[in-house]
Amino acid sequence: MKIEELFSVKDKVAVVTGGSRGIGEMIASAYLANGATVYITSRKADVCDAKAIELSERYNAQCTSLPSDLSSLEGIEKFVKEVEAIESGIDILVNNAGAAWAEPIDIFSEKGWDKVMDLNVKSVFFSTQKFLPLLKKKATRENPSRVINIGSIDGIGTPVFETYPYSASKASVHHMTRVLAARLVREDILVNAIAPGPFPSDMLGSAVAHNYEGIISRNPVHRMGRAEDVGGLALYLSSKAGSYTVGETITCDGGTISATGHDLSE
Ligand SMILES: NC(=O)c1ccc[n+]([C@@H]2O[C@H](COP(=O)([O-])OP(=O)(O)OC[C@H]3O[C@@H](n4cnc5c(N)ncnc54)[C@H](OP(=O)(O)O)[C@@H]3O)[C@@H](O)[C@H]2O)c1
Repeated sequence: MKIEELFSVKDKVAVVTGGSRGIGEMIASAYLANGATVYITSRKADVCDAKAIELSERYNAQCTSLPSDLSSLEGIEKFVKEVEAIESGIDILVNNAGAAWAEPIDIFSEKGWDKVMDLNVKSVFFSTQKFLPLLKKKATRENPSRVINIGSIDGIGTPVFETYPYSASKASVHHMTRVLAARLVREDILVNAIAPGPFPSDMLGSAVAHNYEGIISRNPVHRMGRAEDVGGLALYLSSKAGSYTVGETITCDGGTISATGHDLSE
C-alpha cells in the first residue's frame, strides 16, 4: 500500500505521441520525474528535439525525440521502427497527438474533416496496432502494459466552437477505448482514456487568443487544468494503482461535465 509502489512507473518505458508541448509534454514530464524512460514524437523535428533535451535535463532522466507525422500509416510505421531499433518492449503508449479544426457549418471543409479524423481517430487505432508487438513483450498478468488514449470532454458534452469532426473524433476515441480494451485485456494490455477539460496549450489557446479568463470563470473549480492534474491521472492509469481500471474514459476537467449545476431559482 506504499505510495512509492502503488503509483510507481520507475524503469518503465513510455511512448507519448505529441509529447513536444501541451498535454503530451505534461504527461511525459510526470513519467520522467518518476524514473521512466520516455519517447516523444511530433512533426516539427527541431521543437521535438529541443523539448527532449530540456525534459531530460530538467528531470535528470532519458527523454528521446523521434519526430514523425502520425497522420499517415507510413509515418506511424516509421516511428514504431525507430522505437523498435532502441527498445525490445514498451510498457506504456499514450495516444495524445491530436488536432482541432473550426469552421461554420455551411462551409465546413472536407480538408478540415479529414485532418481531424486522420490524426484523432485513424492514428490512435493504427499506432496501437503497430505498437502491439512491443506492448506484448512487456505485458504480464501481474504487470499489464497500458494504452492511454487522450479523448476530450468535447466528445461527451457539446462544445462551444463549431468543431464538428473534433467532437465526433473524440466520442469515437472514447468508444474505441472500450472496444480495444475488450480485445487487448486478453493480451494483458489495459486500455483506458482520459477526457481532458481545458488545459492551456497551442490548440485551445489559438481558439481564445490565449486569454483563458472566460473559460476559468465558467469552470467549477475556477482554474485551468495543470500538469499535475493530467500527469497524476496518467501515473494512476500507468501504475499498479490503476491495474483494475479497464476500458474507462476518465474526465479531468475540474467538474465541467459532471459538476456544472443549473440555477433553478432563476
Ligand atoms: N488543451 C486542451 O484543452 C484539450 C482538451 C481536451 C482534449 N485535448 C486533447 O489533448 C491532446 C493534446 O492537445 P494539446 O492541447 O496539448 O495540443 P497541442 O498543444 O496542439 O499539442 C499537440 C501535439 O501533437 C503534435 N502533433 C500534431 N499533429 C501531429 C501529427 N500529425 N503527427 C505527430 N504529432 C502531431 C504537436 O506537435 P507538431 O505540431 O510539431 O506535430 C504537439 O506536440 C489532443 O488529443 C487534444 O485533442 C486537449
